[in-house]
Amino acid sequence: MAELELVNLSKRYGKKVWGARGINLKVTDREFIVFLGPSGCGKTTTLRMIAGLEEVTEGRIFLDGKDITYLPPRFRDVSMVFQNYAVWPHMTVYDNIAFPLRMKKMPKNEIDRIVKEVSKLVNIYEYLGRYPRQLSGGQRQRVALARAIAVKPKIFLMDEPLSNLDAKLRVRMRTELKAIHHKTEATTIFVTHDQSEAMSMADRIVIMREGRIEQIGTPEEVYYNSDNVFVAGFIGTPPTNFMEVEVKTENGRMVLLHPHFKLELDDENAEPLKHYNKDKLILGVRPESMVILKNKDKAVFSERILVVEPQGSHQIIAIEMEGKIVKIVAPAFPRYKENELIHVSFDMKRLMFFDAETEKRLNPFKDLMEIQKV
Ligand SMILES: Nc1ncnc2c1ncn2[C@@H]1O[C@H](COP(=O)(O)OP(=O)(O)OP(=O)(O)O)[C@@H](O)[C@H]1O
Ligand SMILES: [Mg+2]
Repeated sequence: MAELELVNLSKRYGKKVWGARGINLKVTDREFIVFLGPSGCGKTTTLRMIAGLEEVTEGRIFLDGKDITYLPPRFRDVSMVFQNYAVWPHMTVYDNIAFPLRMKKMPKNEIDRIVKEVSKLVNIYEYLGRYPRQLSGGQRQRVALARAIAVKPKIFLMDEPLSNLDAKLRVRMRTELKAIHHKTEATTIFVTHDQSEAMSMADRIVIMREGRIEQIGTPEEVYYNSDNVFVAGFIGTPPTNFMEVEVKTENGRMVLLHPHFKLELDDENAEPLKHYNKDKLILGVRPESMVILKNKDKAVFSERILVVEPQGSHQIIAIEMEGKIVKIVAPAFPRYKENELIHVSFDMKRLMFFDAETEKRLNPFKDLMEIQKV
């Protein structure tokens, strides 16, 4: 069992800088949690407080119901894997993994059994006799992982452990790490600022900005039910297109007015806006929720293509509206050309509305399962 609870956890550096502020989070047993957010948002700070490497300014940390806020790191039962692997260069792979176990005064044959077991798990068994300098970056990172796994911590903390690897190896290690997590079932918190890494690995994602949590949810929840403009813009590539529109009523129908189009809302879309009384809102449309039509009749707007970015499996079409780049994900064929006139409509079931001032979501989807079916 390993359940972690952070209650109103905050860290202030000096008088003014908040590294993390009012963090509330419950991590359940065996869960794989990912902290995601731009540089400086407080991911490392929060992780280091959990590990006991950073003094807490306010709040509490509970591990399996026990208050560990002021417990020294070595009594916490957590292992941390860092970005720069931090393996000991003068020790063989075997000794790197065995060292923390020797420190625990574990019997020699028991240590030997564990070293062999975890090195097989992370695929470095054949390198046990080598020194770190004789290994590739990915292999070295696996040594660091093996060493962390060997001590059987209650919680695994990983701070951008894949960021020093090249793009291809990174993607492969993602899959391997997930497979290792399935085998060890260790409760894990993994830090990254790469949203696609977060989406592909997490049970739940914690999205942070400026020391605070913006949203916590499964990959589907944060994608389809983004709570605010920041989350909708951070999750997904290319990012969500945002357009400021005027909200009007014409002949009893609610319409959204943009300099380039007028969008009449159906009852389903108008419903959540019934009590919205500001005259502007922010319309969010994901690039794959824009559809290129053959003819003009049903289009929301028509524009000329600025740039086409072929991706093999699909193509990304960029147009410009009101000085802003709007991106559309289209199937690979037909191939579009720069300067071609296209007619575009929206998938009306995927429109996102945000308050023009608070940037909060106005129309969360009620039933995510339902949205995934249509
Ligand atoms: N020792 C420190 N002294 C003062 N300010 C600090 C210290 N460590 C971190 N900070 C500040 O706290 C904030 C959060 O930093 P943190 O390292 O947690 O960000 P991060 O999300 O891990 O970013 P990155 O993705 O760049 O690693 C930043 O504004 C940072 O400048
Ligand atoms: Mg960091």
